[in-house]
Amino acid sequence: MNKINVNRRTLLAGLPAAMMMAGLPGNARAASGNPFPKGFLWGAAISGHQTEGNNSNSDIWLLEQLQPGPFMEKSGIACDFYNRYADDLALAAGLGLNAFRFSLEWSRIEPEEGRFDDKALDHYRRIAATCREKGLTPAITFNHFTTPIWFARRGGWEVAGSADRFARFCERAVKAVGDHAGIATTLNEPNLGRLLRVILPPPIIADMGKAMQGGAALAGSDRFSAAQFGDQDAMLPNMLEGHRKAVAAIKAGPGNFPVGVSLALVDDQAVGADSVRDKVREYLNAAWLDAARNDDFVGVQTYGRNRYDAKGMMHPPEGAELTQMGEESYPQGLGATIRYAHAATGRPVYVTENGIATQDDSRRIAYIDGAMTAMRSCLADGIPVKGYLHWSFLDNFEWIFGYRPTFGLVAVDRQTLKRTAKPSAAYLGAIARRNGAVA
Ligand code: BGC
Repeated sequence: MNKINVNRRTLLAGLPAAMMMAGLPGNARAASGNPFPKGFLWGAAISGHQTEGNNSNSDIWLLEQLQPGPFMEKSGIACDFYNRYADDLALAAGLGLNAFRFSLEWSRIEPEEGRFDDKALDHYRRIAATCREKGLTPAITFNHFTTPIWFARRGGWEVAGSADRFARFCERAVKAVGDHAGIATTLNEPNLGRLLRVILPPPIIADMGKAMQGGAALAGSDRFSAAQFGDQDAMLPNMLEGHRKAVAAIKAGPGNFPVGVSLALVDDQAVGADSVRDKVREYLNAAWLDAARNDDFVGVQTYGRNRYDAKGMMHPPEGAELTQMGEESYPQGLGATIRYAHAATGRPVYVTENGIATQDDSRRIAYIDGAMTAMRSCLADGIPVKGYLHWSFLDNFEWIFGYRPTFGLVAVDRQTLKRTAKPSAAYLGAIARRNGAVA
């Protein structure tokens, strides 16, 4: 049993109700008014590879072709967001949202090293402009995991020079989208590779390693280091340098908007006095939280909690409600990660991802409620939370797990690709409207 929780409960039980309303717990006070600051971003998020379709120049596309391989199915046409983005953005705006997070596909923009495709750049310019026309602030991710095949063949993030390659891409890409951008992140969850090594069973990690050899064979190269599949220790310094250089490149371009990095942050809970939690956190997050201290904000991406005792990560508690990803559903974890990220960086927080894989949309609604309570509590305690971008706008390609997990506010029929907004989409839209998303 967690000692800290016991103490907090005992403490709260002893406080008079009036004192609790005045200051503790924060969400009780905040519930009475609108704590969300003016300009708060209310939106949903997607990424290029998971939704665009036919992203055939990317490292992950290549790995999807491996038989056997780690991917349960191929991304294929995905959600055809590449062609349907205008309708999707109209749908998002119609729900009452005022922001939309999407990513630029590096492999479309720079299909061969040093050759930039004007048509692709123009495509992303149009997405950003369409967001603006519809009243959606574009939250632009410059890299959401996938990299061009040529980059992976050169050793991906494992090799010196990768930071400069990424910064050169950012320098070109920001010229297309900078005028419209509302906020930007450089890398999506650059700490995920390490997190996967902590949370996934070793056979899956071994499969990912084998896939890199398969990737090299398919690509006809000596090596292949895709996305975050590579050697984490080799990747870390290059990704940190890549982030720093990308921030500088983006800031040197058109527009004037906050730039940061989004991190995979779990509500890691220590169980017992000799819990390994702090050691794990150091390994997963320390370098990135430190880097984020120099940014305009820190992007928090939280799905739930992990508990650690002296031996390592524990199983979810007996009887816990699990998601389609086999994780415990734990929306209140968002409050803990916002506090953790803000305390470690001193920076304002945008929640750039938060969501649940479930077929039962009423659970998504309950999850959103939990996230709102968590954010209200943080805001009431004076933490500058500036936006909430739910993952995901669409049911989309969930990487190695294929299309089975459904994170979307909007369902996508796999045969017809027809979109159907779920009740949770209207629910989040109504929260956004009530809290001033649309003037
Ligand atoms: C990633 C998304 C992914 C989501 C749900 C995040 O780690 O940024 O691409 O779909 O989690 O697993």
